[in-house]
Amino acid sequence: MEPAISFRRVVRSFGDKRVLRGVDLEIGRGETVAILGGSGTGKTVTLKLINGLLHPDSGSITVLSEPVSELDERQLLSIRLKVSYLFQGGALFDSMNVFDNIAFPVLEHGSPSPGELEELVEELLAMVELEGTENLFPSELSGGMRKRAALARALALRPEIILYDEPTTGLDPLTGKTIADLIRSLHERLGVTSVVVTHDIPLVVRVATRIVFLHEGRFIYSGTPDEAAREGPERVRQFFAAGGLHA
Ligand SMILES: Nc1ncnc2c1ncn2[C@@H]1O[C@H](COP(=O)(O)OP(=O)(O)O)[C@@H](O)[C@H]1O
Ligand SMILES: [Mg+2]
Repeated sequence: MEPAISFRRVVRSFGDKRVLRGVDLEIGRGETVAILGGSGTGKTVTLKLINGLLHPDSGSITVLSEPVSELDERQLLSIRLKVSYLFQGGALFDSMNVFDNIAFPVLEHGSPSPGELEELVEELLAMVELEGTENLFPSELSGGMRKRAALARALALRPEIILYDEPTTGLDPLTGKTIADLIRSLHERLGVTSVVVTHDIPLVVRVATRIVFLHEGRFIYSGTPDEAAREGPERVRQFFAAGGLHA
């Protein structure tokens, strides 16, 4: 079957900074792939290339059979309905309560009846275990609840691919674990393809079917978390060891 995401010799620079230097990457449908690598190596850039927020300087990117690297903004809108991006930091609208935050993308792209909308928002809140928080504002939520509300919003349009940028950064380990369990159960229940950028090794171990490791502009390794920790290149093993996972 055709992969969900495919990069061919993708190059992307900012000024004279060569961030991606000819990247090949394939992510199959239904995989949960964690992108690991040092800070500033281009992990977020990779996610933004997947949903067309950035374009490559050269090379090609195919997502759900669409050549995203060649589409214009209008054509990209339909891709972004299928590819949900959970930004670093979550990013709820502070001036809207939880209900309106989650309803927002739904109302932007359709016109459900009030009853249908209410039912959908309730279903989404149940998926992320936030029942009963409809009337709360982001400032009234804990960090973990904000992440879950943002995730409910990201799920509102039934995406086929979910991109997570550091979903557990800034959370305590216990809250981080609940987010990890949630990502995993969403994957199992909805069968989505997920790409997770993170430094959180326990999260990687809980959710990733495979890791890829970005270093000096290329993916230098691909394997399961277990293989990576046991027999990956030294740089990759060190990353896992520093995160508490030793061979
Ligand atoms: N819009 C931009 N303009 C200029 N430089 C950028 C931009 N986006 C990313 N970069 C640079 O590209 C490099 C990779 O960034 P990023 O993908 O955000 O790193 P990370 O792996 O930590 O997510 C960094 O050096 C960053 O400064
Ligand atoms: Mg980043």
